[in-house]
This record gives sequence, C-alpha cells and structure tokens, in this order.
Amino acid sequence: MSLTIPRAAEETSVRHPSLAAWVAGIADLTRPDRVVWCDGSAAEFDRLTHEMIDAGTLLRLNPDLRPYSFLARSDPSDVARVEQCTYICSVDADDAGPTNNWREPTAMRTTLAALFEGAMEGRTMYVVPFSMGPLGSPFSRLGVQLTDSPYVVANLRIMTRMGADVLALIDAGTEWVAAVHSVGAPLAAGEQDVAWPCNSTKYICHFPEDREIWSFGSAYGGNAILAKKSFALRIASVQARDEGWLAEHMLVMKVTNPAGRSIHVAAAFPSACGKTNFAMLTPSVPGWTVETIGDDIAWLRKGSDGRLRAINPEAGFFGVAPGTSPATNPNAIDTLWGNTIFTNVALRDDGDAWWEGLTDAPPAHLIDWQGHDWTPGSGALAAHPNSRFTVAAAQCPSISDEWEHPDGVVIDAIIFGGRRATNVPLVVEARDWDHGVFLGATISSEQTAAAEGTVGALRRDPFAMLPFCGYNMADHWAHWIAMGRSLRSSGRVPRVFRVNWFRKGADGSFLWPGFGDNVRVLEWIMDRVDGAVGSVPTPIGHLPLEADFNLAEMGLPPTAWGEMFATDRDAWAAEAADTERFFAQFGDRVPHELTQQLQHLARWES
Ligand code: OXD
Ligand code: MN
Repeated sequence: MSLTIPRAAEETSVRHPSLAAWVAGIADLTRPDRVVWCDGSAAEFDRLTHEMIDAGTLLRLNPDLRPYSFLARSDPSDVARVEQCTYICSVDADDAGPTNNWREPTAMRTTLAALFEGAMEGRTMYVVPFSMGPLGSPFSRLGVQLTDSPYVVANLRIMTRMGADVLALIDAGTEWVAAVHSVGAPLAAGEQDVAWPCNSTKYICHFPEDREIWSFGSAYGGNAILAKKSFALRIASVQARDEGWLAEHMLVMKVTNPAGRSIHVAAAFPSACGKTNFAMLTPSVPGWTVETIGDDIAWLRKGSDGRLRAINPEAGFFGVAPGTSPATNPNAIDTLWGNTIFTNVALRDDGDAWWEGLTDAPPAHLIDWQGHDWTPGSGALAAHPNSRFTVAAAQCPSISDEWEHPDGVVIDAIIFGGRRATNVPLVVEARDWDHGVFLGATISSEQTAAAEGTVGALRRDPFAMLPFCGYNMADHWAHWIAMGRSLRSSGRVPRVFRVNWFRKGADGSFLWPGFGDNVRVLEWIMDRVDGAVGSVPTPIGHLPLEADFNLAEMGLPPTAWGEMFATDRDAWAAEAADTERFFAQFGDRVPHELTQQLQHLARWES
C-alpha cells in the first residue's frame, strides 16, 4: 500500500496525531491501494471528475447547455436513503428511543469490523476534512469522512466547506466527528470496476456517545454523504442536546415586505413536502421578497443577545429534481445553470439533463436514468423519482447576503408543516412556545398508499426528525421545552406556527394553490410577529381573521376560507386520541408540558 499525501496536507495532518493515527488505523483495516488527503481545491475536483468520466461513473453534460456539469447513474438498487438499515448505537437502548433502530454498540462494532475488513482493497481511500457551517463560526462543527467513493468526495466538496483549511483547525485542537464510509465493493487484482460500486448489504451506523459514523454498502445521498443527515442531524442533534443548542431538519429564509421590514423564519417539513421550493419561494404578491439561507438543515442556538439564532451548516443543495420547474421553483432552475452533479435524471439527445415536470411536454426521446432508450410511450419514468441535483448554495439567485454570517440570523418565527388532507388549517399560531413544541411533536400526514399502512391513518413525523434524531425523540421534545425556558429568561422567544398547504376540499382537490401564494401566509406571520393583527383563539391555537389575510387577486371560491380553517371538534378529539397513543410509546419520557397540551386539546368543550 502506498500512502499518497499531498505536501500541504502532509504538513498539517501528520502533526495532528489523533487524526493521523485514526486514518492509519482505518487504512490497516480496509486495506486501500492508496490513501489520498483531499485539499478541497478546484484542481482536485477537476482531477476526480476526469477520473470518474474515464471510469464511466460520470458523464459530462453538454458544456454549451450545462457547463461544468455531470450525470451519474446509480446502481438501480442504490437509489435512496435506507432507513431500515440505519442504526443509532447508543449504549442504552432507551437513549435511541422507540422510533430509531437500535443496536448495542460493541456488537455493532464487531459486525462493522468484519464488513470493513479489506473493504477498500483495490480502491483509493480519500481523507475528506470538512466544516459544517462557515469556517471559524462559533456555530460550526468539523468532521472528517474517509471514503472509497470519488463520487462522494465530489458531492462533499459542494455540500460542505472542505479541505486544507479544516485540517488547520483540527491541527489547532478543534474537535471533529469521525465518519468512515465504504461502498463495500473491494476489487481483486486486475478486476474491472463497475460504474457505481455498492453492496446489497447496507449499514448506516451512528455511535452518538463516540460522535462516530460508519456507513457500508451504499454511495447514494444521505447513506453516503455523511456530512448531511448522519452528521448535521443525527450526531449533531446529540451534540446540540449536550451543549444546549438545536440541530434541526429546517430550512431558513429571510422575508421582506414592500416597506422593507424583514423577518427570518426557520421551518420544518417532512421529506417530500416541497421544502426546497418554499426556501426559494418567488412571491406572487408584488413588493415581497424571500431570500434563501438554507433548504434542509438549521443549527440554532441562543446568541449573546439572548435571541435564537440560526445558521445553515451546509454549503450546497442536494435537491430532488422531479417536479422542479420554471413554474414551481424558478430560483432552483436558475441555480442549476452549471457546476451541477445530477444523479439519476434522464439525458436529452442534446446532452442536457431532463426530469419529469421540468417541461410541460417531455422530449420525444431520452436516455432514462438506467441508461436505456426512452420515449413518452415507454410507460416508465425517465428520471428516478428520487433523482437529485448537487449544487453550491452560492449559485442560488435568491441566496441571502446573510447566509454565511458567522453569528447566524435572528429567528423571529418557527414554522412546522406537514402534508394533511384533513383537519389541519392553512395556518395556526401556537399559544406559546410549549404549545409550539406540541405542534412540532405532532407533525403528521395521512398515509396515502396501502404500502405505507392503513390508508388515511396518520403517519407521525415529529419535528420532521423521525429518521434524523440521534437520540430519544421524547428527550428531543424535552430539550425544546428547555430551550424555550432559556429564551424566555432573556425575554425573546420566537413565535411558533403550524402550516398546511395540502388540505383538500370535499371534492378532493387542494384548497390552497401553494408555491408563490405561500407568501400570503408569511405576510400574516410577519403581522403576528409585529403585533399588527389579531387572531381567533381556539383549542388548536390562534387562527387568522379573514379580514386580516391578504387574499387579493387570488380568485379563491367564497367557500375556500371556511373549508381551509374548519375546525371540527370530533375530528380533533380523534386526533387527540391518536396523539395519546403515539405519545404512549415514549412512556414517562414525554415532558409533562406536552401531556398538558394534549389534555388541553382533549378537554375541548363545544
Ligand atoms: C432529504 C430528505 O433528502 O429529507 O433532504 O430526505
Ligand atoms: Mn431533508
């Protein structure tokens, strides 16, 4: 085995004994042919992408149409996060809680040692030091991912601040999270590689007490780009609990009204609820602007001014392509002009990318995400429904000037959203912080397919963190309650709201158009933050008065408002009973503040 260490990296890395020793130890276990310390430079990215083109992993898109952009096609078995293979390996099973897959850490380490033994043979192991959050910000945290996937390295370079500067911080003694990743496909001497190596056995493992991540068998998205869901949510949520801050599955945006008044909003939505579209919203109401700070993850803490402040720890967007179009998200479309890695989208005959929803009519011929000829009559999707783009946030036309501010932005309002066809109104304001935590803890959507369980039954996704909380979900709620107490002590608590763009009318159609019109909900939220409008108190929270809500030029049918805000006591009684069953699985770890909120709802008298 030869150890290839670029001079600059060598000078800093080998001075840091624990990092150097860890890298050497993992190399001894996994036996790569080479070890390469990544410096994060453009030249390195260029070299890697050229190598991947030669290996068939990447295809260069037409540089006249999509400059410096690539298409990767994954193995058809490796197309999404694998929650059933994702584990929290805390010492005590109760610390993982009933909503995580738990494994005893020593037993899991034995399993992993066997899987990783020789797993990188015939490959290069890349050492990728990265920062989540702007370098040097008090919010930021460091990590180092070891990976045998150059595709993952290229994605990390877009999604994080990566390279030599991070080594310098590690060298200065900054703590870092250790992440080991292998596609699990060692190559025998002379064996020909495949374009997307992976393994049918997959393990995505988190050791919260040791701040360590081990991932085996997949090269796709959150399974492999460990800085994102594994570090910035699962491990960071534990760091945050221990250190008094929050790592959340939230977008962050700045909203400005025509008079120039701005607020900042953090919003949690379950996966596949249009979070990226909301984060890059193009307002339908003239004079309003929405600027993007982050589209997926927020790290929040109380600042020295006593206010809740947030950063986006990521440097890029790993967004779902299908459904993204000039109509649904023009800012995303403009962001993707170039410098983009597309994964599992279709290829047009002119060498550009295409996915369902991009254009009204599909092209007459494409190469689909599996590399086969495709025509509109093929009867299959041309792009995989979970096909993705990886692109730098800095390229987004709606990115805020404040998005990399080391002290973050002050959060004025927090939004919890879900996908609810019934019951949940377009917008409701929590009575106070603790009620807001209850709204976050009860995010849910109706199951729409038999494969998900009973159709119509509620699927719970508390705080949109169900697959991403690295510790017991009920402890997460208690941590939120404690954060509120701390913010109250400085007298500056953000307002909390629940929104639902997806309520349906009696005829089964959506009551609210969503997209650019969601700015009208933000307008009401700003008015509430400013104390400019009243509200209607109800057992589910404060509802808007129709007269205060900007519905101008919308042409909504006269019945829409009543239907969007209908609150049926019996339906909420059923929902409260369902919530009681949901809470019961957490036993006495549910904070009493939330049990009180539930009792308040259950006591609703007509
Ligand atoms: C994502 C997700 O990819 O939430 O962001 O699944
Ligand atoms: Mn997400």
